[in-house]
Amino acid sequence: MKKNILITGGAGFIGSHVVRLFVKKYPDYRIINLDALTYAGNLENLKEVEKEANYIFEKGDITDEKLVSALFVQYNFDGVIHLAAESHVDRSIAEPMAFIKTNVFGTVNLLNAAKESWKGKYEGKRFYHISTDEVYGALEKDGTFFTENTKYAPHSPYSASKASSDHFVRAYQDTYGLPVVISNCSNNYGANHFPEKLIPLCINNIKNKKPIPVYGKGENVRDWLWVEDHARAIDIIFHNGKDGETYNIGGNNEWTNIDLIRLLCKIMDKKLGRVQGESEKLITFVTDRAGHDLRYAIDASKLNRELGWKPSLQFEQGLEKTVDWYLANEQWLINVINGQYQQYYQKQYGNR
Ligand code: NAD
Ligand code: TYD
Repeated sequence: MKKNILITGGAGFIGSHVVRLFVKKYPDYRIINLDALTYAGNLENLKEVEKEANYIFEKGDITDEKLVSALFVQYNFDGVIHLAAESHVDRSIAEPMAFIKTNVFGTVNLLNAAKESWKGKYEGKRFYHISTDEVYGALEKDGTFFTENTKYAPHSPYSASKASSDHFVRAYQDTYGLPVVISNCSNNYGANHFPEKLIPLCINNIKNKKPIPVYGKGENVRDWLWVEDHARAIDIIFHNGKDGETYNIGGNNEWTNIDLIRLLCKIMDKKLGRVQGESEKLITFVTDRAGHDLRYAIDASKLNRELGWKPSLQFEQGLEKTVDWYLANEQWLINVINGQYQQYYQKQYGNR
């Protein structure tokens, strides 16, 4: 094997796309997926690659110091692509401590293990930390964008924990010379997205004729990127990005929540053979999220200029593909909603 790569959080939404891409594209890399299988981790996402010779699953928690050090000894990782995180803003408002534990302590634990294992011999090594645009705070609706130089101003416990982890990653570069790279991406959508997040939640509710909860007036803006375009950017940055750099990744694709939901209703009416306008009737305005960021929008021109990446899909096309995936994978959604996948894999892997 040419390289041993640790991918954390590989059973989650984005992580599973990254694992699939790397396992298939790089047969001479050994991909080790470390995932604690929290409510958001689902090995069903990885069925396509689970039997590949260059793929290994390790069930475990990134906050477990002994385990993480032992894995570095066992596999002598050349690279780390760190995605494991608590990722949902609403959960962070309800239970902030879990976010501090995984996102901050877990990240520092990985950085420390890399530092101890690599011992200053950094040739060919790379620690790649996957972060979010939410660390930059919120924009007004004034046409400005987040760039790599935008000052951090997180508002939610989730974004504050991610901002903190980003600072630690840079501190390990500045203090110990660890070869790190960071990317900050906008909202992703696509297959395997856990149905607590806006788009899969809407798809599920529309399908089941349940109310679609729109926070506030639905005027908040997000910049949506197809998850496979994010995975492709991660591949490019991991291989060609420069140590110590930050790259913003985004779709250049801003939608107010209400416009996005209306579009989704239209697509679903068509796919489900319903009368146009039927699903829109499910839209229900509910109490706004506390500290709800008004607008996110990424300037991804650095990544385009320096590494040649750009999004590949138009949003309407991507959204149709996503709806098709959810309609074709009904059982995935049912298993996730009733928690069955966790019971099954709990039996198989148990607790460490
Ligand atoms: P997700 O919630 O779908 O998946 C997270 C994965 O991490 C799950 O498989 C879970 O089991 C695992 N995990 C959680 N805590 C763990 C722990 N303590 N130890 C080991 N594994 C643990 O998240 P996602 O949406 O795929 O996001 C992945 C990464 O990308 C996160 O770091 C997130 O901040 C970042 N990100 C997400 C988005 C987005 O739109 N989803 C956008 C930009 C950046
Ligand atoms: P979400 O998918 O949770 O991503 P994030 O908060 O990281 O941007 O939410 C996307 C947007 O949709 C955000 O502005 C909050 C809003 N939203 C709703 O209006 N209703 C919902 O039920 C959810 C989950 C989100």
